[in-house]
Amino acid sequence: MKDIKLVVVSLAAFALAVAASTATFAGSKEYTLPDETAALTKSHDAGYEKAEANCTACHSVDYINTQPRGKGKDFWNAVVNKMMHAYGAPVSEPDVPAIVDYLSRNY
Ligand code: HEC
Repeated sequence: MKDIKLVVVSLAAFALAVAASTATFAGSKEYTLPDETAALTKSHDAGYEKAEANCTACHSVDYINTQPRGKGKDFWNAVVNKMMHAYGAPVSEPDVPAIVDYLSRNY
């Protein structure tokens, strides 16, 4: 008999705890997302603005930032072409050299 009472009391305590926790989560919450932290390295190179315009629409600049440094023009040319031809980045062909130049100088 004592045991059953104990079970009933602990069940009641559990129910209260559940009710209390749902009450805490009820209602809408607002979240302020942090600012985008990664940005392209500023530069006077002609390709800087073109890269801003063409390389930030689909993913974070971290994709560029986290590549190994100093890989050179061939590497960046391959990346830009992959973005265009594999992923459909709408980069206009005449802008490619300037973007590749900017990327290989700054990354
Ligand atoms: C149309 C969308 C789109 C645009 C615009 C775009 N990318 Fe990407 N990018 C992708 C996708 C998709 C991936 C692969 C994501 C994954 O694997 O998780 C990617 C991945 C990358 C990576 C990671 C390495 C790799 O090869 O997967 C780099 C670096 C990169 N992009 C650079 C660029 C640069 C530089 C530009 C501007 C010329 C650019 N991206 C524009 C879609 C885009």
